[in-house]
Amino acid sequence: MIGGTWHGKANWLSREHGVHWQIIEEVAAASWKDTTEPHSVLRPRLSTSDVSRMTNDAGPSAGQIIRQRRSAVAFDGRTSITAAMFFQMLQKVMPCAERGQLNRPMPWDVWPYDPAVHLMLFVHRVDGLTPGLYFLVRDRRKLPSIQQSMNPEINWVPAPSCPHDLPLWWLLEGDARQLAVQVSCRQDIAGDSAFSFGMLAEFEGGLRERGAWWYPRLFWESGLLGQVLYLEAEAAGVRATGIGCFFDDPVHEIVAVKGMAFQSLYHFTIGGPVEDRRVQTLPAYGHVKPAPPA
Ligand SMILES: Cc1cc2nc3c(=O)[nH]c(=O)nc-3n(C[C@H](O)[C@H](O)[C@H](O)COP(=O)(O)O)c2cc1C
Repeated sequence: MIGGTWHGKANWLSREHGVHWQIIEEVAAASWKDTTEPHSVLRPRLSTSDVSRMTNDAGPSAGQIIRQRRSAVAFDGRTSITAAMFFQMLQKVMPCAERGQLNRPMPWDVWPYDPAVHLMLFVHRVDGLTPGLYFLVRDRRKLPSIQQSMNPEINWVPAPSCPHDLPLWWLLEGDARQLAVQVSCRQDIAGDSAFSFGMLAEFEGGLRERGAWWYPRLFWESGLLGQVLYLEAEAAGVRATGIGCFFDDPVHEIVAVKGMAFQSLYHFTIGGPVEDRRVQTLPAYGHVKPAPPA
């Protein structure tokens, strides 16, 4: 606060964390990767022609979007987005898994595995789409196994007006706001947005096949998804918030996931933000002096 008056007396931050989660260290040690896979990891090499894949003349620059990105602390419960905006955001998390790694769209060309994380979406305020539960299958080859792992009574209907290359399915119709809030540790941000979702990872099969080291990779993929959508939301004129607090078992029950075939690892919400006027926003890197001319 600039020019404000301090009240009260600040206390010292604790020297140590009050709570020690032994299991986190055990899981980190158990999932350490000490094997090498037969296939080599490909690293994209950028050439000048690749720059054309990154630039889009319309709208603000990537730099501006990256600098202005913040998490919404609350959503207004009113703002809706168009179906076109919604589909566009979802297109950006599609790695085009049928292509070779280096031919996948940025940033998925840096991810040396086929997608293993899919989105279960609670759609609240998307113009032209009926509110309800939707599912984005990020690798369409996995659709049969995903369907077999869930409640067989679910009717998988292609989402109306959805682009043909986007495997978005409409599972249930209805007001999902309260459900989304409940499974996201009762946080209103999951229901007051335009849509929120859980990231459901293909779980037991992948872990048995590859080993425990695969476990952190599923979080890395979820994190990458979140980073892409934080920026896409900002570029679309709305805002996002990652949700790390959620109840995983009730999430799985919504679609009756069988056993440990899928595991919810991260939640996310996107919509019209409410500005928190208690927080002062300064220009990003405003304190950094430009380097003197060489
Ligand atoms: C993995 C992750 C989990 C998060 N979980 C929550 C959450 O459960 N509830 C919430 O209100 N914000 C959540 N956030 C948002 C953070 O509070 C926010 O990112 C942090 O305060 C930094 O602010 P910034 O994103 O504007 O830089 C989460 C963010 C991340 C990246």
